[in-house]
Amino acid sequence: MALNLNILVGTQTGVAQLVAQEIELRLDGEGMNIRTLLMDDIDTSVFGNGGVFLICTSTYGQGDVPDGAKPFYEELLKKRPDLVAVRYGLIGLGDKGTHAKTFCFGAKKFDSVLTELGAVRIGEPLFNDSGTDLPEDEAAEWIVGWIELCRKEFGVEAST
Ligand SMILES: Cc1cc2nc3c(=O)[nH]c(=O)nc-3n(C[C@H](O)[C@H](O)[C@H](O)COP(=O)(O)O)c2cc1C
Repeated sequence: MALNLNILVGTQTGVAQLVAQEIELRLDGEGMNIRTLLMDDIDTSVFGNGGVFLICTSTYGQGDVPDGAKPFYEELLKKRPDLVAVRYGLIGLGDKGTHAKTFCFGAKKFDSVLTELGAVRIGEPLFNDSGTDLPEDEAAEWIVGWIELCRKEFGVEAST
């Protein structure tokens, strides 16, 4: 049985999108169905009847989600859909050197609201500090362990 993964990308200048592409490349041949969507283009109906989601978002302004991700984030706060059937992982992109007080707050905001709505996070988040680690490289390494956790959670064997 293939694992279906939905990657939801929040980005201001495209780095989070590159990270998602790198993850797709890293997982190529692992017997997974991956769908990557920009938060700019979705609403809360994306969660449907649940499933496995990877939130991959940067932080802008003063600890805000990226501009294009705001309507999606605000709809979650307002509509408060029941997300008990949602399992998710979290990748936050930020810069600790220049934004220490709001480091990765965009991703942390999604983490809070998803948990409040009943979704269950799988594993620890990856919070990338672009000042020290290249986001694409760190994410491509991190995803391997995260996918293992997902396979254990759902009892899905790797196909390779
Ligand atoms: C104007 C501006 C504001 C930012 N604010 C924050 C912030 O509050 N916290 C943080 O951790 N990173 C902050 N960052 C860093 C970005 O989140 C980081 O560079 C990220 O890799 C950009 O990814 P993106 O291209 O996907 O948006 C900010 C960057 C800019 C240019």
